[in-house]
Amino acid sequence: MEKIKKAAELIKNSKNITVLTGAGISVESGIPDFRSAGGLWSKYDPFEYAHIDSFRKDPYKVWKMLKEMHQILQGKKPNRAHIALKELEDLGKNVVIITQNIDKLHTLAGNSIVYEYHGVWDKLICIKCGNEDSIENYRLDEIPHCEKCNFPYKPDVVFFGEPIDHEIMQKSNEAAENCDVFMVIGTSAQVYPAAFLPNLAYRKGIPIIEVNLESTPLTSSLNTIFLQGKATEIMDKLIKEVTNE
Ligand code: APR
Repeated sequence: MEKIKKAAELIKNSKNITVLTGAGISVESGIPDFRSAGGLWSKYDPFEYAHIDSFRKDPYKVWKMLKEMHQILQGKKPNRAHIALKELEDLGKNVVIITQNIDKLHTLAGNSIVYEYHGVWDKLICIKCGNEDSIENYRLDEIPHCEKCNFPYKPDVVFFGEPIDHEIMQKSNEAAENCDVFMVIGTSAQVYPAAFLPNLAYRKGIPIIEVNLESTPLTSSLNTIFLQGKATEIMDKLIKEVTNE
């Protein structure tokens, strides 16, 4: 049976669907990913710009990259792939989305359960005194400073060297181990512990559907149903198969 039909059958016969998404699902919304050619890490060394120690040492240098990210994220909209995941929920499926993305496009698309595994862009936190604020209160061209202690704010995203929020990790692990099908969309599966989530499903014998432009370490090791192509095109085809359009 053609792989897309096989994947659609699995989804049709599933009630609980857990989805891990990465930057690749937002590329067609105009947000470059990290590790493809021209991705953000081809411009900024992540260990120089996205490690918590770098931020502590020189927050102004890190804000050079953060301001660029802020500009990129402005006004971006969910694409067909994000919408397709909302449509699965509208079909009555229990969809849990675990996203590594900080762009909030899944929330904008309307899915009701979204675990933001690497945090969210629009919340600011002061690593010195714990004060919080919203990035909406600041202009794109300024570096927001804590109103209490005047240290530069950090977007509440998980930098390298920082832990994942404990509750989000727990809920994500549970969702990976308690679903009928696990989908992985647009991630290179290079960053842990996020990349370990599909393994949790695999160890429980849960089938895995992978959507990506290219194969990843998951493709063969977890024997995924690998749907190669652009997330918008694949997810559009998949939804049409599921709804027999
Ligand atoms: N459709 C499907 N897949 C795509 C598309 C697309 N249009 N465009 C790119 N991809 C795939 C790429 O082939 C790649 O496998 O998406 C993946 C993106 O991988 P990365 O850039 O590594 O992004 P991600 O996996 O989300 O990175 C994980 O690393 O730097 C940290 O915190 C950052 O959350 C990020 C984490």
